[in-house]
Formats: sequence, C-alpha cells, structure tokens
Amino acid sequence: MKKTLSITSTFLLFLVILISCSKADLSTTSTNNSNAPASLVDPYTATKASFGNNIDFLNLSNYASQPKPSYISNDNTGANTITDAKATLGRILFYDKNLSVTNTISCGSCHKQAFAFSDTALVSAGVEGGFTARHSMRLINARFANEAKFFWNERAASLEIQTTMPIQDHAEMGFSGLNGRGNMISLLTKLSGIKYYNEIFKTVYGDTLISEARLQESLAQFVRSIQSFDSKFDAGRALVNNERDPFPNYTATENAGKNLYLTPPVFDGKGNRISGGIGCNGCHRAPEFDIDPNTKNNGIIGVIGSTATELNNTRAPSLRDLIKADGTVNSKMMHTGLFTTFEGVLGHYNTIPNLGGNNNLDGRLKVDGVGNKLNLTNTEITQVVAFMKTLSGTNVYADKKWANPFLIQ
Ligand code: HEC
Ligand code: HEC
Repeated sequence: MKKTLSITSTFLLFLVILISCSKADLSTTSTNNSNAPASLVDPYTATKASFGNNIDFLNLSNYASQPKPSYISNDNTGANTITDAKATLGRILFYDKNLSVTNTISCGSCHKQAFAFSDTALVSAGVEGGFTARHSMRLINARFANEAKFFWNERAASLEIQTTMPIQDHAEMGFSGLNGRGNMISLLTKLSGIKYYNEIFKTVYGDTLISEARLQESLAQFVRSIQSFDSKFDAGRALVNNERDPFPNYTATENAGKNLYLTPPVFDGKGNRISGGIGCNGCHRAPEFDIDPNTKNNGIIGVIGSTATELNNTRAPSLRDLIKADGTVNSKMMHTGLFTTFEGVLGHYNTIPNLGGNNNLDGRLKVDGVGNKLNLTNTEITQVVAFMKTLSGTNVYADKKWANPFLIQ
C-alpha cells in the first residue's frame, strides 16, 4: 500500500513537471511568434542539415581580410576580389563529391589539407579507375604568384579557368561529355537540384542560378584564400630590413642555407660551380617562393608510367610548405613525383642532365652550355635542407575554414 502510494505520488510529480514544462514551451513559442511573420521559414534548413555548425552564413569565416606581411607584393587576384560569402561557397564546392559523375571524388580528394593541399599518392585516383597524368600540386599561396597561368605546364590561362578543368576531365571528376557521361551543363543541372545550393546561391548571388562562371569565381576565391605566412622565415623576415640579412631567429645553419638558396652560383666556364650559392632563388623567388614566369624546364622531362618526354612543365607551386617544420615532406616532388626527399631534389640540381632532346632546358641550369654541376658538399646540403624547413607554417594545416565542411563525408 505504501509502495503504491509512493509510486502514485512520483507519477503525479512527473505529471506536474511535464505540464509545467510544456506550458513553458508553449509560452516561449507564442512570444516568438508575436515578433515574427507567420510565414517565416529558416532560409538555411537544407544547409544546416548538410553542414551543421561547420557553415554559418550569418557568421562567416574570414577569407577576405586575412593579414599578409608587408613584404609580400605578388597578387594574381585580378578583378575577382575575395569575399567571405563567395569563398565559403567555394569551400563547399571544393569538398563536394557531387562535382564528380560518380559522387565519389571532390577537389579535396586530391588536394588534402593535411599535406598542404597535395596528395601523398604519386598519381591521384579520379572517377571509375581513372588516374591523373601528373602528380597533384600543393595549393599554398596560389594567389601570391606572378605566374598567373596554372598547372605544371601552364595550360590554364587563369585560376578561374583552371577550377572547372578537373570537373570536365574524363579521368578526374568525369563531366567530360565523353563515353556517355554528362558535361558541364549536366553538372549545372545536377547542382540546381540540390537544396543547399538553392539556399546558398540565393544568399551569395541573390538568385538560385548556377553557372560555370559562378563556380569558377567562388572556387578560385577559396583556392586564393589558402595562405601560409606563419613560418619561421616570416618571423625572421619581420626582424630585418632585407631578406639577405642574417635572421636573428635562425640558427647559423639555417642562415647559411638561406644564403646558399638566395645567391647565384659562380662557374668555371665548364659547368662546375667553384663558388657562390646554388641559385634556387633565380627561379623560386623569395619571399613568395613563387616561380619566375619566364622559367623554362628544369631538366625534369619524364612522363609518369611512360618513356615519353614533356618539355613544357615550367611552373612549380610556391616552395613554401614543401617540407613541414618537423621535417616531413608533404608529398612527392616534381610533376613526375620523382623525389620523395628534398635531398633527392638537390641531387637533381647538383648534376643537371643535359639530355640531347631537351631544347627547352632553362639557360640558368646550363650556364656554360652544359648541365650545371653544383658540387654540393654534405654540409651545404644540411644547410639548405634546414633552411627549407623554415618555410612552412602550421595554421594552414589546421584552420577549419579550409577544412571539409560536410557532416557526412
Ligand atoms: C583526381 C585528382 C584531382 C582532382 C579531383 C582535382 N585536382 Fe587539382 N590537381 C590535380 C593534379 C594531378 C594537378 C596537376 C595537374 C597537371 O598539371 O597536369 C592539379 C593541379 C591543380 C591546380 C594548379 C596549381 C598550380 O599551382 O598550378 C589547382 C589550382 C587545382 N588543381 C585546383 C583544383 C580544384 C579547384 C579542383 C576541384 C574542382 C581540383 N583541383 C580537383 C589533381 C586533382
Ligand atoms: C631555371 C629555373 C629553376 C631553378 C634555378 C631552380 N628550379 Fe626548382 N623548379 C623549376 C621548375 C620549372 C620546376 C617544375 C619542374 C617539374 O616538375 O616539371 C621546379 C620544381 C622544383 C621543386 C618541386 C616542387 C614541387 O612542388 O614538387 C623543388 C622542390 C625545387 N624545384 C627546388 C629547387 C631548388 C632547391 C633549387 C636550387 C638548387 C631550384 N629548384 C632551382 C625551376 C627551377
């Protein structure tokens, strides 16, 4: 009897709490309703369902006004000024597998944030067993390069044009229009049927139209936003007037490596370096470490998986974030992914192969008419490697504004 009573009173108490809670709920709801039009629907319902808190159009991440050091002057932005809203749309597109015919591959599949937006694989996997012909490129500081043509062989006239080429590449994302596959128009139709794009294009562009030009504009803004200026090099450069001055925050080894990197070599008339530095800066120019637009090839003329040659690969991404500060390399190097260590790269520049068929080898690499021999000592190799490690930051690998925003990946 006692037991029944206590059960009954517990139940009654529960009932009271329940009623008072629902009353409270009701009253809050009615207060809200009195301030808002009855027809108000959350304009981001589908966006929230796909991205949760990763994307918030009412509180956007900062892409437009990121600080950059005063000594950085190169900028290929042109008319496509970064805005937070368009770069955010670019971020979603960059990680959206719907941009591939099989819904399996996004830009982020081959450009991984953890590896400076490159890929650890020699060639990257695309749709239905397809593979890229060249090694993936890091996307660090793409904005801060004087060479405004993109890809290893500079076949994209601008970053905007570049961004929709992988989508239409048969092996990469597959909207090629070949072998029964859809083309760019099919993709635009497909994206128009996705609810979160309706919401987002309306916010970003004022209407729901999805065009190739809008994809290019927003993807290019996202790629240009990927910047890295928190390296030991930047901390040191801020302390001196000229990048050739010794950096107070560097070890003697790092300063010696910087000097070798920045200084041109002196040769004996027969291609042997007898003094001076090793001349990397002639083409990979500090402080952006971008490629000189007039560079010809560097003697790496192979084609992956073939005995053919290519003489027109004359672009490299910035050499910043090539090696992480902890010494690990982000990915294989060169368009052929030939080198897995920076020492291997130095081995190449130490004895430039002057192959008979290579009539596009840069003159700076055959100063005396034959392939340069740098005659690097072990000490010099240690110094240059130590310097290269100072060119990497940490934020670009971790900042969530460049990360995959999809809740289900
Ligand atoms: C299947 C892998 C793959 C996919 C998917 C992919 N890329 Fe790439 N990306 C590469 C490879 C490989 C290269 C170098 C190709 C070459 O030069 O021939 C490259 C080069 C680039 C470059 C040139 C960088 C430079 O400094 O010249 C940019 C920019 C770029 N990709 C952006 C994107 C964007 C944006 C997307 C999505 C729309 C994308 N990529 C999708 C593999 C991929
Ligand atoms: C004459 C111009 C020139 C000089 C000088 C030069 N390079 Fe290069 N470098 C290039 C070109 C062009 C490429 C792109 C090669 C390719 O893959 O086809 C490149 C690629 C690279 C890469 C690969 C980048 C990547 O993302 O995979 C590294 C690393 C590199 N160079 C380091 C150096 C170092 C270190 C020196 C100095 C010893 C140096 N380079 C001197 C033109 C030059």
